[in-house]
Amino acid sequence: MLTWDEEVKPSSPSPLASGLPNRSMELPPLSATPAMQPVAATRTLNDGATAPVAPAASAAASSTRRVTAADKRIINGQTDVNQLVPFKYKWAWEKYLATCANHWMPQEVNMTRDIALWKDPNGLTDDERRLIMRNLGFFVTADSLAANNIVLGTYRHITAPECRQFLLRQAFEEAIHTHAYQYIVESLGLDEGEIFNAYHEVKSIRDKDEFLIPFIDAIMDPNFHTGTLQTDQTLLKSLIVFACLMEGLFFYVGFTQILALGRQNKMTGAAEQYQYILRDESMHCNFGIDLINQIKLENPQLWTAEFKEEIKALFMQAVELEYRYAEDTMPRGVLGLNASMFKGYLRYIANRRATQIGLEALFPNEENPFPWMSEMIDLKKERNFFETRVIEYQSGGALSWD
Ligand SMILES: [Fe+2]
Ligand SMILES: [Fe+2]
Repeated sequence: MLTWDEEVKPSSPSPLASGLPNRSMELPPLSATPAMQPVAATRTLNDGATAPVAPAASAAASSTRRVTAADKRIINGQTDVNQLVPFKYKWAWEKYLATCANHWMPQEVNMTRDIALWKDPNGLTDDERRLIMRNLGFFVTADSLAANNIVLGTYRHITAPECRQFLLRQAFEEAIHTHAYQYIVESLGLDEGEIFNAYHEVKSIRDKDEFLIPFIDAIMDPNFHTGTLQTDQTLLKSLIVFACLMEGLFFYVGFTQILALGRQNKMTGAAEQYQYILRDESMHCNFGIDLINQIKLENPQLWTAEFKEEIKALFMQAVELEYRYAEDTMPRGVLGLNASMFKGYLRYIANRRATQIGLEALFPNEENPFPWMSEMIDLKKERNFFETRVIEYQSGGALSWD
């Protein structure tokens, strides 16, 4: 058995003694992203040109200088991405803690009543069944797209570790959401081939995904790097499309439909899961908006008049695509809903997303036709809403978002 003296003898340091590898000064600096490449006097830009690295940034990347909060940047940062603290972006860390406090798992939701209703030939109308099938047809693949966008696209371009921490949690939540949709499909015994291929085979769903995919592909390209006006704008556009238009708009017809079923005491297990997903997605959307606004603050040169026009056009296109999806899923009125009610709702949401990132409202004076959706987001107000199970799943912390 080793004596204390032998274990910690200062004259013979072991690589394991401090729990850290024994780094020799001859070794290159640790790195995890392009932001942490060995320090050089110049860095290569996307177009092959080189740009001088500011002395402060260069020093920050060296293994000898400690990270300071002031040196951190959301994109193109030069500080060590492996060091979570000191915190600079506390809003990101707080949102990370809040999402962890809201943890839930799909299989904890009882689906017995949904299964009985689905199997009862008189349980649901044909229009309600069509709505459920098309609804799941979009969602079963949508959250895989969202997860892939985070893991293979966004993550490596974000150089603030507290924001990366949120993205890691978000990626796991997208996996939980895909699991939830799969669990509903499996519970109801639906045709998996039909549902999981809907994004190829149903035009209104395919059109939404085809709108999104170029923005994922652009930032997933291994040759894509931020660091120029053009590539930084490409990343910012991708973040806006995902936070404001996918998570913040393309999910809302689907969420409203299933939650409307739940309000009529139908498919209450599915509705309960959608309620948890809506809560998660609200947080993702709000985090994304904070991220976008912080990038704008740190890089005001990106927010040009031309760029804003391009973003506005994408908003208009997204509203149109989501409205067509509403028409396709509800060819007739169902559950007291109809497609034209969604036109107003989508315009109302688009206005909200636009103003949240500093654009003017695109459709002035739109009212929210579904005020109950706002209440749905807040589990504190609607305890045990669908009477399926307990209540607030929250395991700690506070539920708060707008
Ligand atoms: Fe999701
Ligand atoms: Fe999400």
